[in-house]
Amino acid sequence: MTRPARVVIDLQALRHNLHAVKRYAPAQKVMAIIKADAYGHGLERIAHQLTGADAFGVACLEEAIRIREAGITHPIILLEGFFSFEELEQLKSLNLQTVIHQHDQVSMIEHLSSEKAIKIWMKIDSGMHRLGFDPSEVQTIHQRLRGAKGCLNEIILMTHFASAQEHDQTSMEEQLNIFASATADLEGERCLANSAAIIEWSRSHGDWIRPGLMLYGVSPFPDRSAEDLGLHPVMSLQSELISIRQARKGDKVGYGGTWVCPEDMLIGVVAMGYGDGYPRHARSGTPMIINGQIASLIGRPSMDMLTVDLRQCADVRVGDKVILWGRELPIEEIALCAETIPYELLCGMRMRAKFVEING
Ligand SMILES: Cc1ncc(COP(=O)(O)O)c(C=O)c1O
Repeated sequence: MTRPARVVIDLQALRHNLHAVKRYAPAQKVMAIIKADAYGHGLERIAHQLTGADAFGVACLEEAIRIREAGITHPIILLEGFFSFEELEQLKSLNLQTVIHQHDQVSMIEHLSSEKAIKIWMKIDSGMHRLGFDPSEVQTIHQRLRGAKGCLNEIILMTHFASAQEHDQTSMEEQLNIFASATADLEGERCLANSAAIIEWSRSHGDWIRPGLMLYGVSPFPDRSAEDLGLHPVMSLQSELISIRQARKGDKVGYGGTWVCPEDMLIGVVAMGYGDGYPRHARSGTPMIINGQIASLIGRPSMDMLTVDLRQCADVRVGDKVILWGRELPIEEIALCAETIPYELLCGMRMRAKFVEING
């Protein structure tokens, strides 16, 4: 027997979610966002399943190389661009495309030899104020890129939204208007929408969409479930009970003794901790499922284990299956209990727990 902590990846759910994406935006091309190890699901594994996507978006050259080495021939776009001229010079031979978001990158494209010319996605800062050119300089930069030796064909125009998942629509309206007016006279395809915008803002769909979170079956909205949106969670975090003990009223549980037993009661220990990617800040009361029954986390999760209140669970035994999140228990709910977002929990999964694929 090996330690039972495992991350179960449902490949059928992943394929289902790509279909769902295409139902939300039937006329658009899909750049599947698989950066950060495909949001913790495993880069190569996810890229191999998403052959129905038109391109992949990654954060850096290292991620792109991993996908090429896995035999994937789809277009790949570097979302943060290249970080040096040496990197830029490698892009053509790997058949990579790049986002350009700042002036140094423009100069490097101008210095690149035409044999190494690549396709460029020009990023415009329409209001998020993270990456991208100021709307006032879009025309000039676009002209420079069009004339640069290193720029192949038509430039794709791109922006990113800060608040597509929020109720307040003002910021989205503003970003859409700023992008539209900054690019009004420019030819080329448009690429704007992340998951929330794909679902909620058809006006933002343009020619290319960039789904990330929704591909993994997670809702980008705080108040709408993945199920309501027609998405199926791809990741399930699971383990087993490795100990059950009778605690007495007043016993303090775990590091810091933050949870005190209100009565004599059964408590369980689960082989799962922050060393596996479970959030250390999950509060007492965070749900999990043991043998199909809801149970609550008690005390602070430690590196390899966490403790659980078994008062509501009938007939529990050592070896019983525990689901920490998954189809039956949305990760969105766990993220709320840990005062974080599902993105962070998913990305934290590159740790120790074993990965198991199902429905391949
Ligand atoms: C530039 C860019 N596009 C698209 C996405 C995908 O966003 P989401 O996961 O919310 O769909 C991200 C993710 O952070 C991103 O940085």
